[in-house]
Amino acid sequence: MLQVIILAAGKGTRMKSSKAKVLHTLCTKSMIEYVIEESLKLTDSINVVLNHQFEKVKEVAQKYPIKIIKQDLEKYPGTGGAIKEVELKGDKILILNGDMPLIQANELKKFAEIDADIVMSVMKLDNPDGYGSVVIEKGDVKKIVEQKDCTEEELKIPYVNAGVYLFKKEVLQKYLPLLSNNNAQKEYYLTDIIEMAVNDNLKIAALEVNEENFKGVNSKLDLAKAEEIMCKRIKEYWMKRGVIMHLPDTIYIDAYTSFEGECEVGSGCVIKKSVIIESEIRPLSVVEEAVIKNSGIGPMARIRPKSELIDTHIGNFVEVKASKLKGIKAGHLSYLGDSEIDEGTNIGAGTITCNYDGKNKYKTKIGKNVFVGSDTKLIAPVVIEDDVIIAAGSVVNKDVKKGSLAISRAPLKIVKDFYYKFFGREN
Ligand code: UD1
Ligand code: MG
Repeated sequence: MLQVIILAAGKGTRMKSSKAKVLHTLCTKSMIEYVIEESLKLTDSINVVLNHQFEKVKEVAQKYPIKIIKQDLEKYPGTGGAIKEVELKGDKILILNGDMPLIQANELKKFAEIDADIVMSVMKLDNPDGYGSVVIEKGDVKKIVEQKDCTEEELKIPYVNAGVYLFKKEVLQKYLPLLSNNNAQKEYYLTDIIEMAVNDNLKIAALEVNEENFKGVNSKLDLAKAEEIMCKRIKEYWMKRGVIMHLPDTIYIDAYTSFEGECEVGSGCVIKKSVIIESEIRPLSVVEEAVIKNSGIGPMARIRPKSELIDTHIGNFVEVKASKLKGIKAGHLSYLGDSEIDEGTNIGAGTITCNYDGKNKYKTKIGKNVFVGSDTKLIAPVVIEDDVIIAAGSVVNKDVKKGSLAISRAPLKIVKDFYYKFFGREN
């Protein structure tokens, strides 16, 4: 049986963040979630080792069927120390770092298929910065030296430890108690097992893996690079399933967004936690936590959380929040918040639902076939029944019954020749 141990207890000092490293997100999902999800494709025996910000990381990790272990960071710091408290159950044990969000299950499977006492992951890099160096002599791995412990010569080695290892259970059982913290970081390094195993003539296989999938995220720069790769993967996934994306490099789609049917996304759009069905999201629009069906949005529209749009046209500079819009048109410059608007209704340019009085939020309800003239203010709570006309520029602070006209206007006064009296006549 394969057991996976995910190491996620470290402080992540190089991240320079008050947030635990593995909780940083790429495309809205945290690093630790990606690593757990890929591991679950291999086995249901998963241990996640935590310590730094234990409660916060635990809250995210325990959504999954895994076992959480708390590392004694004071007594046994380091990636080797992390495993001390874990009950070794599997005959083969795959160890992953929690800061490798791009890891893929089909590549991890390869580790268990190789017959060796230890299978370790090696990458050849032009810039080995941030990784432990792998000393190879005559084709055989000799040891891993952490960057902080490297000599000048060792720093030039292009082979690095990618941070994934498969150990036979007996190997871990034998060498874990023998680790020492006699190194630059005063930590118990898991990587020291390699040299000890070499000295005992154990069979060590080095699997060359690609940098993209095994990238370790240690800094915010690494995080940005990893997010770019993740976002590209997500977009390619959807494009292969029939979504048109214009200049995809400029589009941000998060891990929780899904598309159904033929959809089109314009350049510069940001779409998060949304479901897009048979719709077009035009350039530079931002959509978050929304369901959009058979509709056209933007360019330059903002659809905010808890919005549901069906058969609807939303034009430029329209902001929608927590609203249910069904079969309506809002072509220009509007704010529709906490509202429910029904079929055939036209929202004129500049319409605002005044949903907030400084203390509470209130709802605006508009029925079918309503014509809302431009620059209307709807003071919520307010109900506009079906077949109503609201004259342009009105402030509507009372409910309006079916079939009515609502008009509020300050009378317009026209003073003849006032301009010339005020500024003086020309010449
Ligand atoms: C580690 C490897 C390095 C490798 C690199 C690949 C060691 C000693 N070094 O270095 O050879 O090139 O990964 O990305 O293993 N962690 C714990 N408890 C701890 C310390 C760390 O659980 O006491 C966890 C961290 O949360 C992290 C992972 O282990 O998820 C790796 O720790 P990190 O500090 O990033 O190690 P690297 O310096 O990257
Ligand atoms: Mg790391």
